[in-house]
Amino acid sequence: MDKFVIKGGSPLKGTIPISGSKNAALPLMAASLLGSSASTLKNIPRLKDIYTFNNVIRVVGAQVTFEEDENTLIIDPENVNYLEAPYDLVRKMRASFYMLGALVGKYGYAKVSLPGGCAWGPRPVDLHLKGMEAMGIDISLEKGYVIAKAPDKVEGGTFRLEPSSVGATVNLLLASVLKAKEFTIENAAKEPDVVQLCDHLVKMGAKIDGIGTDTLTIRAVDQLTGIEASNDPDRIELGTFMILGAMAPGTELTLTGCNPEQLGSFTKKLRETGAVVEIDGTTIEVIAPKSLKPVSIKTQIYPGFPTDLQAQWATMMTQADGESKVTDTVYFDRFSYVPELTRLGADLDVEKNTVHISGKTPLTGASVMSTDLRASVSLVLAALVAENTTEVLRIYHLDRGYESLETKLRTVGATIERVDEE
Ligand code: UD1
Repeated sequence: MDKFVIKGGSPLKGTIPISGSKNAALPLMAASLLGSSASTLKNIPRLKDIYTFNNVIRVVGAQVTFEEDENTLIIDPENVNYLEAPYDLVRKMRASFYMLGALVGKYGYAKVSLPGGCAWGPRPVDLHLKGMEAMGIDISLEKGYVIAKAPDKVEGGTFRLEPSSVGATVNLLLASVLKAKEFTIENAAKEPDVVQLCDHLVKMGAKIDGIGTDTLTIRAVDQLTGIEASNDPDRIELGTFMILGAMAPGTELTLTGCNPEQLGSFTKKLRETGAVVEIDGTTIEVIAPKSLKPVSIKTQIYPGFPTDLQAQWATMMTQADGESKVTDTVYFDRFSYVPELTRLGADLDVEKNTVHISGKTPLTGASVMSTDLRASVSLVLAALVAENTTEVLRIYHLDRGYESLETKLRTVGATIERVDEE
């Protein structure tokens, strides 16, 4: 197992290119299975979750070619012949559950393992299943597996997501575009990842009304064609580096290949800290203020503040002059980073789904443990502003979602090494 050894304290300056989005790529990969011919997906990041999903797609018989140097993925669904996604793959990554919608949508049958537990809070899939049932797909549970059957076209109907869910919206789109005569999703997710998927499916030949709104109506077509498309940049990676850019005086980061429009309310919040955020097309420059103002945030569905940036924000707020709060209204139990930040000297208290942060606390190097993807990157951010050396253990979580993290950080002046924990 690898760890990062980080010597903090030096102001960072330079340019970081933003990679393709993991969370946006996974639905496009699943959508490729719906085509009658191969799809070519560009700007796909080289991340563990992508490799895992490639393997899930290979298990069903599709041909997957990842031209890694080009960040290009070619998925040919022609020889799909096995309609199952087994537990040992699905447990590695929840998004493998997208196989349910893709397989039942195209082939009328799917057997997919329930995702099981995860490191933070309950993350149910009840809405994915209830939505498919509402559409007319037969759903049954057997020994930890979901079996979905719909040999012929189904009538469809209307299903309301409560709460709005990215994963359920994606799975219901995948299931319905070839299968449901007319299906309406109310309170659908409007996250950029969902909009990209809808636009992509329409280019493949699907009929979807209401794209970008919270009401999506799908009318099944008989066939979808494979296409070539370029994946969106990763807004969460971008937000993470923008936070890093604002965290310590003297830091100036230029982030290239961005889609600033996909940041929702985040940019406004970052400017409230006193950070300078200059946007020029697809380039964003962030200059840290001399003194960071405390700014409280509450996560919301898009375009609200993303839950995937709350841990990083709380970490930045340990360096702000005063008290602030971070409340997660999407997930109530996503604070595993708090005890680890405390080990570095931060002053944070969790009360229900809110973290109270008292700044500014100097941070001093220690050994800390990664617990999930966004928690892990927060520890890296903290280590970069901490005095002395910090070891961030179990960084395999980071490899799931941040492409070439240490290389990117080194180019802007960070001292960070990946070493074997043994
Ligand atoms: C996706 C993202 C994840 C992000 C999350 C919220 C991917 C691969 N992951 O996860 O990084 O943190 O969106 O932006 O894209 N819910 C139910 N029943 C369900 C499904 C969800 O109650 O069947 C609830 C969840 O508990 C949560 C809320 O809906 O409170 C939103 O979750 P959801 O949008 O589904 O998250 P994911 O798609 O799993």
